[in-house]
Amino acid sequence: MDKSRLYIEGGRRISGEIKVQGAKNSVLPILAASLLTSGTSRLRNCPALSDVFSSCRILTSLGCKCRQDGDVLEIDAGKLSDYEIPEQLMREMRSSIVFLGAILGRLRRCRLSFPGGCELGPRPIDIHLSGLRKLGAKITEDHGVLDCTLPGTVTGAIINLTLPSVGATENIMLAAAIGSGETVIQNAAREPEIADLAGYLNACGADIRGQGSSTVIIKGVSKLHGAEYEIMPDRIVAATLMGAAAITGGELMLTGVRPQDMNSTLSAYEQTGCDLYQYADRIYISAKKRLQAIKTLRTSPYPGFPTDCQPILMAVLTRAKGTSMIVENIFENRFRAAAELRRLGADIKAEGKVAVIEGGDKLSGAATVATDLRAGAALVIAGLAADGTTTVSNVHYIDRGYQAIEAQLRSIGAKIKRI
Ligand code: UD1
Repeated sequence: MDKSRLYIEGGRRISGEIKVQGAKNSVLPILAASLLTSGTSRLRNCPALSDVFSSCRILTSLGCKCRQDGDVLEIDAGKLSDYEIPEQLMREMRSSIVFLGAILGRLRRCRLSFPGGCELGPRPIDIHLSGLRKLGAKITEDHGVLDCTLPGTVTGAIINLTLPSVGATENIMLAAAIGSGETVIQNAAREPEIADLAGYLNACGADIRGQGSSTVIIKGVSKLHGAEYEIMPDRIVAATLMGAAAITGGELMLTGVRPQDMNSTLSAYEQTGCDLYQYADRIYISAKKRLQAIKTLRTSPYPGFPTDCQPILMAVLTRAKGTSMIVENIFENRFRAAAELRRLGADIKAEGKVAVIEGGDKLSGAATVATDLRAGAALVIAGLAADGTTTVSNVHYIDRGYQAIEAQLRSIGAKIKRI
């Protein structure tokens, strides 16, 4: 059990320059994709996250070799031998479902336990499974275990997703990359991480077009080789660091980012009255003026405002002048930060999909509990602006997506330590 806590002495202005880590939501599917290749891949800009280590444990259990040296991760998938993911490894990480498409694509058989719910509520995989069935997969479920086979070669299909699910789009791309026909995914997720996965697969010899748009076309190839690839920057971590600057009235230069992937988030910070300057691979944010409420902030699939950034903005809006409303359209349990933020004195009412934040009053330090990854990050951000000491327990959630969060924040002026 993880007993560590973050201790934050609030009230210090964030300022300085910081390089943003590689994207968790990109590296995880790319790690799964690496086992479609019969060679060695070298991933650069790979963040040191507990979810990355869990993925490596899955790869190793299947017969791959993983070696991490700083931010470079090498995976040798030449001797993939097993098609079954042990249940305890599946439980470590909900996004392990993306291994299904990759293992099926390479070995034509895969067994894994059905991912249950998670901190964010039920996480169904019906769209993943119906897409894989359209590719020819036979799938049975027995006592929570999925047994999938993909007889013969994938000859292509037209798959219309009922929702633009990120994970389903990735699973179908992975299962269809090796084959002899053309697969078209309609209503595909358009997240930049999908384009990053396609970028890696194409570097390995795949033939994928349309990534980043709602029609992705995968022309099956006979095999894939290893490749060297740089993981894209994490736009959620970038948004979190911007939140740290905004809530403390600070200023920050983020480097190694892609502002063009972050339009809806940048626009939200602009609406709070922050000054933003965008450069090719940098974003400067300055929060010298009083923060303003955002009338309505709605989460939606990309290019809409990301659900992962919602708790961060919720924390920031607790300090803004006026009433803000957030409508959460993606995950039903994404307001779990609200109850913990209230411990710091925030005035937030949340019911169903809607949260109303009466911003303004000072926050004051308290003992809080991270209930999931982004709620945990939101509490840290709020703690930076609260009077006195805030503690955040359940830090293991935060470690899933933020590389050494306390060291990162210390380097830009925060007083924060892990005990
Ligand atoms: C990915 C991200 C996650 C982000 C989410 C939405 C990774 C590792 N995780 O998660 O951080 O919050 O996208 O941008 O990349 N749904 C179904 N049936 C399905 C699949 C999904 O009903 O078979 C629903 C979900 O309940 C949810 C919505 O579709 O309401 C979006 O889910 P999805 O895009 O699949 O999210 P993930 O891929 O799990």
